Amino acid sequence: MQLHSPSPSFRFVLAIALTAILAPNSIMAQPGKGNVKPNKIKPIATSTAATNTHRWFLPDTLGMHKYVSDLMAKMTLEEKIGQLNLPTVGFDVTGPVLSKDVEVKIQKGLVGGVFNTFTPVAVRKLQQKAIKETRLGIPLLFGFDVIHGHRTIFPIPLGLSCTWNMDLVEKTAHVAAVESTTDGLNWTFSPMVDIARDPRWGRVSEGAGEDPFLGSAVGAAMVRGYQGKQQYQLNQPSNILACMKHFGLYGAAEAGRDYNTVDMSEYKMYNDYFPPYRACVEAGVGSAMASFNDINGMPATCNRWLLTEVLRKEWGFNGMVSTDYTGIAELINHGMGDEATVAKRSLYAGSDMDMVSELFLNKLSELVKQNRVQESDVDLACRRILNIKYRLGLFQDPYRQLNDKAPAMVHVSNEHRAVAYQAAIESFVLLQNDWVMEEAAPRTVPARGAKSGGPFQIAQSGDSQSVLPISPSANIAWVGPFIKDKRNLIGNWSGAGDHKQAISLWEALHAGKKWEGQPLTEIENRSWDNESNYALGCNALEDEALIARLNAHGGMIEKSEKSPQTLIEEALALAKTKDVVVVYLGETSGMSGEAASRSNIQLPENQKALLRALAATGKPIVLLLMNGRPLDLSEEVELASAILVTWFPGTQAGLAVRDVLFGKVSPSGKLTMTFPRSVGQVPIYYNAKNTGRPFDEKQKYTSKYLDMPNSPLFAFGHGLGYGSTVLGWGDGSRNEDTVVLKMGTVAFKMGTAALKVSLSINVSATGGTQNRVETLQLYVHQRSAMFTRPLKELKGFEKVFFGDQASRTVVFEVSAKDFSYFDANGQPMLEPGLYDVWIGSASDKLSLHKLVKLVE
Ligand code: NOJ
Repeated sequence: MQLHSPSPSFRFVLAIALTAILAPNSIMAQPGKGNVKPNKIKPIATSTAATNTHRWFLPDTLGMHKYVSDLMAKMTLEEKIGQLNLPTVGFDVTGPVLSKDVEVKIQKGLVGGVFNTFTPVAVRKLQQKAIKETRLGIPLLFGFDVIHGHRTIFPIPLGLSCTWNMDLVEKTAHVAAVESTTDGLNWTFSPMVDIARDPRWGRVSEGAGEDPFLGSAVGAAMVRGYQGKQQYQLNQPSNILACMKHFGLYGAAEAGRDYNTVDMSEYKMYNDYFPPYRACVEAGVGSAMASFNDINGMPATCNRWLLTEVLRKEWGFNGMVSTDYTGIAELINHGMGDEATVAKRSLYAGSDMDMVSELFLNKLSELVKQNRVQESDVDLACRRILNIKYRLGLFQDPYRQLNDKAPAMVHVSNEHRAVAYQAAIESFVLLQNDWVMEEAAPRTVPARGAKSGGPFQIAQSGDSQSVLPISPSANIAWVGPFIKDKRNLIGNWSGAGDHKQAISLWEALHAGKKWEGQPLTEIENRSWDNESNYALGCNALEDEALIARLNAHGGMIEKSEKSPQTLIEEALALAKTKDVVVVYLGETSGMSGEAASRSNIQLPENQKALLRALAATGKPIVLLLMNGRPLDLSEEVELASAILVTWFPGTQAGLAVRDVLFGKVSPSGKLTMTFPRSVGQVPIYYNAKNTGRPFDEKQKYTSKYLDMPNSPLFAFGHGLGYGSTVLGWGDGSRNEDTVVLKMGTVAFKMGTAALKVSLSINVSATGGTQNRVETLQLYVHQRSAMFTRPLKELKGFEKVFFGDQASRTVVFEVSAKDFSYFDANGQPMLEPGLYDVWIGSASDKLSLHKLVKLVE
């Protein structure tokens, strides 16, 4: 293979051109005084002060500036510091400390915003105090963790990302905005866009998985959904201020243990972890949250390089930064100094609001008087917060049309339930769907779980002979702790959601017209309310110590009075009389999320025991899984015929599971995080690099494990539907063809986006139910480069809805930007040479290939 290394001068010019395109607002990064950063940023040409198209520069920016300046001219130092204070008051707790005397502090003008308070009555009460009882009547911000819905709960964010449907993701965020603003909120601590490659970390459930490209798309969609498509829509009463978090790199916590250290090269940050944060900034996100972790020796909360040099100067972020819960006080544990020192360091770094620590409130005034902190730094933070309040329209209407009657009209409305239903359906990932043997007509591929004979009466879906979808006329045993469960359906961090409003699978099986908005079908009319079709089979958990830990924080885990053995025996007795067993297992909701890291990512042992026993009956097993992270399913893939991951599906859970099971809708979700064979492979992710010794079966000294393959159990992008899809080139070209792209002067004059290849793909659906869906994925790989590059990287995707058509044509445009990357100093690079471009239906199922040759 010939190497194409660009000459240094060529690279430099390209860097200038690309910087202008990729970083429209960048200003030359200058390490500031006291600024601690891991690696020195290489200075780049000043031509990067390119056209400023950022949405923050709005028609009324001048008006805002004048208004806020006039207001600040009247404020005392204490009042300015008060704006920097963000205590918690109300309904939810996500940290060890609770704020005290908040109402008194509000009256004294010592609070800029509160979080965890909502409902019109509660918000009005506090806002009135701020408006009527303080000297200047500055309105409060009202924040809350509206993570995947407010009252109507959508699938957990990891599940939402598996929809690969950005319009839908945006819609869910907008519904959340409508419901939460009706409850008086004006700020949500979402989206969480931390790239995560370690399923031990419980917070993978809150993000969009492992990929920077997809994560960027999801982050931007959520920002649009919350704040409105344009930044100037933030003052619409039904839009809510978004908060991009946790900045940054929180998902890379060592060993997957929450709050842990991060140590990472700038090369990796810029290419793999930063893109989603930056995408949120480019989408106009108004606030960001500093993360708990330290980065290369400097905690994010007091990391000026991160919060000021990168976020503000390089990316052009003009919003405000809040710390995370007691983030400043925790700097003492990090060893950053005493209370005064950590307050000073955090402010200087670029943290504007102090969540819960109250160290800004208690220390800054004295520090200013001692000349240890400049008042201008307090002013800057205060101005950023007041700017946000202005943009939210709070100075015009601090109550944002708060109306006591509105919640009843919009909360969990049928319209919102319909969005939750669609989101749940599209989030489910069908991991496997084996063919099953029928007594009358044996199949060539036996089900893994089907060890002995039938009789089975399994429906066929088109030309498929798979266990799913199940025929409505099949005789089904319903087994497992989540068949009737409601508590876990909405996940563990479900805003103001009420699990009692969620629909369990068991309820859905009986549903008729009860939940309007869902059309009735033959399936729904079938009478299922026969307890004799159901067996609990096992408790969600048997481990008493774990149950105690989870129940201490709202787990609500109950155990049956029956012994584990009796539960299994009852399930077996039932299974033996049926054609097929549907068993719903997984994690309880508290087993993922914050402070919920696990060193073992298998199903709980008692659940596995049930599954083994059921599989031994020889009946086909449909395994439904409720989980907040990738699990090690290496045993389950042998025991079950079909596995459908439903995540924590939200308010409409049961209806969505039912409709996929019976084939009213085909599953269409695709994994956004790799499922390993074992926790020993972690971190494992699809966009890994090659080594100098790639695995070779015949060679000892190559990169491998002695005891298992390098490959994952289920790869990023994997997900089956009912029936299959076939891809072909839509323009008559062939896989071997090479496309030549001349960089020439075009790259300089018109920008790299103008330099592009169009690839036309035909995709046809075979078999399966109506309304098939396939998500085409485009990956690239640079064959030789200045730096080592991943073996493949997602650079495009298209979710294709077939409707009543058997085939569709999709055109992908791959631009030179998709071939660029960041060097070890965070500078953009584009190099001539050979690039592989693949298109397929999963990162490990790429049937179409082209070679693109970038020439100078
Ligand atoms: C801590 C969490 O890390 C963060 O995600 C959340 O927004 C805050 N607590 C506020 O609840």
